[in-house]
Amino acid sequence: MTTEIATLDPNCPDPAVIARAAGLVRAGRLVAFPTETVYGLGANALDPAAVRRIFWAKGRPSTNPIIVHLSDTSGVANVASAWPETAARLAARFWPGPLTIVVPKHRDLPDEVTATGPTVAVRCPSHPVAQALLRAAGVPLAAPSANRSTELSPTRAEHVLKSLGGRIDLILDGGPCPGGIESTVVDVTGTGVQLLRPGQITVPMLEAVVGQVATSAENNAIARSPGQMPRHYSPRTRLMILDEISQAKEMSEGKNYAVLTLPTDPIAAAAELFAELHRLDECGHDLILVQLPPDTPEWAAVRDRLSRAASK
Ligand code: TXA
Ligand code: MG
Repeated sequence: MTTEIATLDPNCPDPAVIARAAGLVRAGRLVAFPTETVYGLGANALDPAAVRRIFWAKGRPSTNPIIVHLSDTSGVANVASAWPETAARLAARFWPGPLTIVVPKHRDLPDEVTATGPTVAVRCPSHPVAQALLRAAGVPLAAPSANRSTELSPTRAEHVLKSLGGRIDLILDGGPCPGGIESTVVDVTGTGVQLLRPGQITVPMLEAVVGQVATSAENNAIARSPGQMPRHYSPRTRLMILDEISQAKEMSEGKNYAVLTLPTDPIAAAAELFAELHRLDECGHDLILVQLPPDTPEWAAVRDRLSRAASK
């Protein structure tokens, strides 16, 4: 299969191109599109064969469920069987935007989307291209990040092409994704709110809306979010975390290495993280070295992605 690329103005996407992409989605095909976080690989969430194609294209384990994207909250009732009060409050505050909420699934939603589990993860992306595609397609989109499983997430169309070229039908190129890091994922199906994946919407931001949020292993976040396996988001080049940058010479043991340096602002660092890793990964170094940013809520998502990328 040849993968077509269509370039779009991210703020004012051409309706004719969007209409063609929507037609492909309705025909069960795969279309990559930009969101405010990373590029997604979209398929009609109500079409089991189309969703199976996502798993095939990514080489994704069938045990890992996929986020369902909606243009607004009115579509929730078609994919979820309950919408708890906490979900409604979070959605009212953060949608459209980079927050994914796990709720009980609707019985008509194909098991492929949820990896046969009883819950579904839903999010309304704010990116104008994602919004336009969702509205034109008129169906919910199952969309994981548009990369091969365990590889680096894509924040530009060229990253998608490098990883999935020849395996998907169309890439909507809307330029770099502004956020650069995947959405925050929370589960509201238990007692209280459980953080499953840190993102740009930080724990203090969530807590300002719903009170205390449980984090980390307390409630076994990994078991509840199968995509959170330790090795993830990895460059091909080995990535190593340093306590101090002054250790670089010693730790590299004479190997040819590069140091990943990130902006000092967490939002700017997130926006550049994957693009920098993609770039350094192309340089043929033996090793990429990086220092973890501070252990504070604003840096939690960047620290999480770096730790996983460094995991062997
Ligand atoms: O920003 C994002 O969320 C991007 C864009 C494209 O929207 N999508 C994304 O999808 O990062 P993916 O598949 O790469 O990561 C989804 C994460 C995985 O860790 C998966 O296990 C978890 O969400 N997840 C999906 N459905 C779930 C569910 N029902 N229960 C718990 N975790 C779920
Ligand atoms: Mg992913």
